[in-house]
Amino acid sequence: MSSTLDGLKGIAVRRGSVEMVLKLPPLPSRKDQRHSLSMDNGELQLEANRLMERIGQEMRWSFDACLTIAPMTLKINRLKKEKDVILIAHTYQTPDIVYGVADAVGDSYTLSKIARDAPQSTILFSSVRFMAETAKILSPDKTVLHPSPEAGCSLSEGVSAVDVRNLKTLHPGVPVACYINTTAAVKAECDVCVTSSNYLSIAESLPGDELIFVPDRLMGQHLRTHLEGKKTVYLHEADCEVHAAFNSTSIERQRKEAQKRGIELRVLAHPECDADVLAASDFVGSSESILVEAKRIASEEEAAVMMITECGTAERAIAESEKPIQLMGTCSMCRHMKRTHLEDILQAIESPRGDQVVEIGDDVIVRARDCLDQMFELAES
Ligand code: 13P
Ligand code: SF4
Repeated sequence: MSSTLDGLKGIAVRRGSVEMVLKLPPLPSRKDQRHSLSMDNGELQLEANRLMERIGQEMRWSFDACLTIAPMTLKINRLKKEKDVILIAHTYQTPDIVYGVADAVGDSYTLSKIARDAPQSTILFSSVRFMAETAKILSPDKTVLHPSPEAGCSLSEGVSAVDVRNLKTLHPGVPVACYINTTAAVKAECDVCVTSSNYLSIAESLPGDELIFVPDRLMGQHLRTHLEGKKTVYLHEADCEVHAAFNSTSIERQRKEAQKRGIELRVLAHPECDADVLAASDFVGSSESILVEAKRIASEEEAAVMMITECGTAERAIAESEKPIQLMGTCSMCRHMKRTHLEDILQAIESPRGDQVVEIGDDVIVRARDCLDQMFELAES
């Protein structure tokens, strides 16, 4: 890998202005590329142009940088067709994956539905482990590939099936809701799964005046506030190492800066953030809803946007906003989400290692599937 471009500020983009500090991983370097030997130069140039156009960050993802990855994106796209693979990527994946090779990109709810309904025989999930496991639970007869099995998540690793069983013993008969950022074994212990796009409405619709919610204590506190006077919510102690690190001081600082310059500022935050951050924000939603709202603001309002989430959402806003978008503040980087590289995807499609093929025991699949099906039923009702 080339040198780190960490803390990049004011990156040049085609549409809009970026005064945001983006924490981004290094770009692939030429020495990583060993796949161009049999490729036609014209085909590579066309692919490099396509990538540069789609990513929309011409200084960082220059023609040269795109030419460096073009042999891999071409090869992966060819192999996907030959091997009947759908490549699903979370928004926090890098733009070479999102715009180079992904067939579907979105938040965890959208991607779960896509994994459940995909007609292809193989699903390759470019993201963290719990999302690939979720795809396997929802499509157990398909081959599910996860190119970076070591890509975890501080939330899914912060709660075990034993923790959930202990909570159930402490609060017998109380419904248990788990965030989707959990292992299959944890989902198997829970009544219903929720995501950042439906946790409030699903929790509200559950019977009784008590609820166990695992594992995110910050999302849980938001839930507690929302359900005040209606339900007692019992929580677990885990958080997202990325979103829990944001604080409301930086929001106040940006608001003052915007005011000084006569700019309207809209602050959009992910519900894995602290209560102070959420209270200081104008909008709270999933990674996908933050993106949709940012694009709406760019097209309908004269306002700058501050995104309190992982930088992948900002990179998608830069690439996809139809109107120039003005970004301010600082986003963050999830080291787990950024573990997957095009090279890993190519290797996993060509000849997956045993640990890249997601396997879950039948009993766990059946119970975890009930938990996810319950979510789909409540979310769509
Ligand atoms: P979303 O469902 O909002 O994409 O959240 C997943 C996640 O891991 C956020 O940190
Ligand atoms: Fe997990 Fe947080 Fe990374 Fe999302 S951003 S995968 S919740 S550590």
